[in-house]
Amino acid sequence: MNMKHIIGGWLSAVILCVAPVSAQTPDYTGFRVCAKCHFDQGDAWRTTGHAKAFESLKPNVKVSAKTKAGLDPAKDYTADQNCVGCHVTGHGEKGGYSPGMDPEDAKVVIGVSCEACHGAGGGYRQKHADAGDRLKASGDTTDRQVLVDARQNFDYEKACARCHLNYPDSKWAGAKPPHTPFTPAVDAKYQFNFEKAVRATGDKNPVHTHYKLRGVFKGGTVPAIRAELQLNAQEPEQ
Ligand code: HEC
Ligand code: HEC
Ligand code: HEC
Ligand code: HEC
Repeated sequence: MNMKHIIGGWLSAVILCVAPVSAQTPDYTGFRVCAKCHFDQGDAWRTTGHAKAFESLKPNVKVSAKTKAGLDPAKDYTADQNCVGCHVTGHGEKGGYSPGMDPEDAKVVIGVSCEACHGAGGGYRQKHADAGDRLKASGDTTDRQVLVDARQNFDYEKACARCHLNYPDSKWAGAKPPHTPFTPAVDAKYQFNFEKAVRATGDKNPVHTHYKLRGVFKGGTVPAIRAELQLNAQEPEQ
């Protein structure tokens, strides 16, 4: 073996060691970390059904909806593996919800919170802080690509589909068990329409009220509905 081969082999060994690290999935951080900076979105989100989704798994809650879907309304479903994944954030993932975790730690990952839609924040939250500081200090914006690289999710339609269109024969190709018991076959109101749901305002907004961004990030993947939602967004209160 000549020197070139040795170096080549050494280099690919290094690449093999490094690759899994950069491909590692980021940790979930919980909604409180996000709401510390995004105070307004945090307050608005807390009033949504998503924030209270874990409550629905408790016995004698939403009795008529459960009965209609063929579930036992007196049963405690809070530890049921067929239910929990869609009613918490980051189920079974690092930093996410896991059954039997410390109840105090669980508070920030029960319910469908920020990271269920925006992606696990362990990689990108520091990028937000840095980019905010940068704009303040020098007036420079940051390329949104750094957020994509840090695994922030901008494909909201796919994020919603994982829970809302996850049942047999749904139009979403990614469906796999455990499925949602609340399908259009149970009641037409469970038909999921992304375009409609994401534009809903006031009490009907399942996401959170939208607040104007200052434009810290530029370029890269901007979600299709961003411009429209920003046009109608409120001035931040904080
Ligand atoms: C240290 C403060 C801080 C933390 C923590 C933080 N962010 Fe941000 N975030 C920012 C700043 C600053 C911006 C840029 C806002 C602007 O342009 O006005 C931003 C931008 C965003 C954007 C818009 C990005 C874009 O495409 O322009 C989203 C969505 C977002 N944050 C969600 C989150 C979520 C979810 C979390 C928790 C995992 C989080 N942030 C944690 C400060 C923070
Ligand atoms: C992790 C799973 C999950 C994700 C991701 C998710 N949802 Fe939901 N969604 C739920 C659950 C569970 C409920 C029922 C909440 C309850 O217990 O009442 C719900 C309720 C709703 C409702 C009914 C009204 C309400 O607020 O309770 C709408 C509309 C909705 N979601 C829209 C969306 C949209 C739009 C997205 C994506 C941007 C999305 N959801 C992402 C699980 C999810
Ligand atoms: C694949 C994801 C998923 C799984 C698994 C899942 N759910 Fe849900 N659940 C949802 C979504 C999405 C909604 C919101 C449906 C809507 O309003 O359109 C929901 C809504 C509900 C509601 C409120 C329905 C209403 O009309 O107010 C209850 C109660 C509920 N789920 C209990 C359960 C129980 C119990 C299980 C396990 C047997 C379960 N869920 C499993 C996704 C799921
Ligand atoms: C059910 C999905 C969902 C949840 C839960 C959610 N968001 Fe969002 N968020 C969205 C969508 C959809 C948009 C609009 C698309 C965009 O502009 O990126 C958005 C936009 C944002 C923005 C851009 C500015 C704005 O107000 O539109 C910030 C910042 C943000 N979310 C932070 C948060 C924080 C913090 C939480 C938790 C407290 C949270 N989000 C929970 C779906 C969600």
